[in-house]
Amino acid sequence: MGPGPSDVHSRVLAAMARPTIGHLDPAFVEMMEEIKDMLRYAFRTENELTIPVSGPGSVGMESCFVNLIEPGDTVIVCQNGAFGGRMKENVERVGAMPVMVEDDWGKAVDLQKAADALKANPGAKAVAFVHAETSTGVQSDAAALCALAAEHNALSIVDCVTSLGGTPVLTDEWGADAVYSGSQKCLSCMPGISPLTISARAAEVVRSRNKKGQSWFMDLTLVMGYWGEGASRVYHHTAPINPLYGLHESLVILQEEGIEAAWARHAAMHRALRAGVEAMGLEFLVAEDARLPQLNTICVPEDVDEAAVRSFLLSRYDLEVGAGLGALAGKVWRVGLMGHSARAENVFLFLTAMEDALSRQGTKIEAGAALPAAQAALG
Ligand SMILES: Cc1ncc(COP(=O)(O)O)c(C=O)c1O
Repeated sequence: MGPGPSDVHSRVLAAMARPTIGHLDPAFVEMMEEIKDMLRYAFRTENELTIPVSGPGSVGMESCFVNLIEPGDTVIVCQNGAFGGRMKENVERVGAMPVMVEDDWGKAVDLQKAADALKANPGAKAVAFVHAETSTGVQSDAAALCALAAEHNALSIVDCVTSLGGTPVLTDEWGADAVYSGSQKCLSCMPGISPLTISARAAEVVRSRNKKGQSWFMDLTLVMGYWGEGASRVYHHTAPINPLYGLHESLVILQEEGIEAAWARHAAMHRALRAGVEAMGLEFLVAEDARLPQLNTICVPEDVDEAAVRSFLLSRYDLEVGAGLGALAGKVWRVGLMGHSARAENVFLFLTAMEDALSRQGTKIEAGAALPAAQAALG
């Protein structure tokens, strides 16, 4: 129950144990087409350029910047946590200029500040932001930010590493241009693959670059030679065969459940956790209207040794939760309810374990109130 990786479903583990076949084997090529179709379902898009990038979420992020941004471009980067900072690094390393729109950790991206930055920087090539900030548990208004970018003729680059499969990622409805995610959060697959989707407009930007980008590995014009439509498949790099079996299975599981049902399950598990946490007397960092159901940031009560609580949960209950990052280090716990981890039994285990840990530290909590509250919330 940390901020990812989440629990991997046994069906996904079993799929990854199947024999490794060639990356140009007709059976594998057929599976690639199914993966692309199922990713379109997950991303809610018709984008042709929708693929699983070989590499973790950071490679999906970097693929967007090295393909869409060129040296000298200006990019509006919204930062309200750790991963917006990584976007800034990417922009700088491409040789472009980041214009930062900064908000406090724990707050959503301020739309007015983003609009002001766009007005002050006409000709900005893109607006980049994190939809679901895993470092704080905040969800920003992706629809509004993508619309702002489009109004100013800028591309939108959206980090949905933690949102895909957990809360609505509506690529086409938002009009988003480049959206990337990770396999290890709400898709509950092993870490190491980054689903990516690129709009037709952004694909045209990639194709019509003035100069080759600096990355050979992430050059989408080359990668699409392997992942593209039709019978001709050109070797680019050896695809991670077994992890892709796993991704395929996790997407089959998502389709079986139905994506709306998966979103509803994440919301229901969050409501149960919240009821228990609040009944215990603990508080959330993030205001309710900006809270991610799949990443719950709980404030550490005064005089509690937060690291000792985490190591007690791990050693006594075999339960992992995350620590705060950056400015939030020592101040919060990050409790994931992602994908296959978002189950009632996990909510109950967490509440039981946390109550035990805090009681042992002598913290004043409402003992015995959490579980009944969570059960009542589940109905
Ligand atoms: C919002 C966000 N963006 C990007 C990343 C980077 O993903 P990865 O660690 O898979 O490279 C993460 C990882 O946790 C993340 O939470």
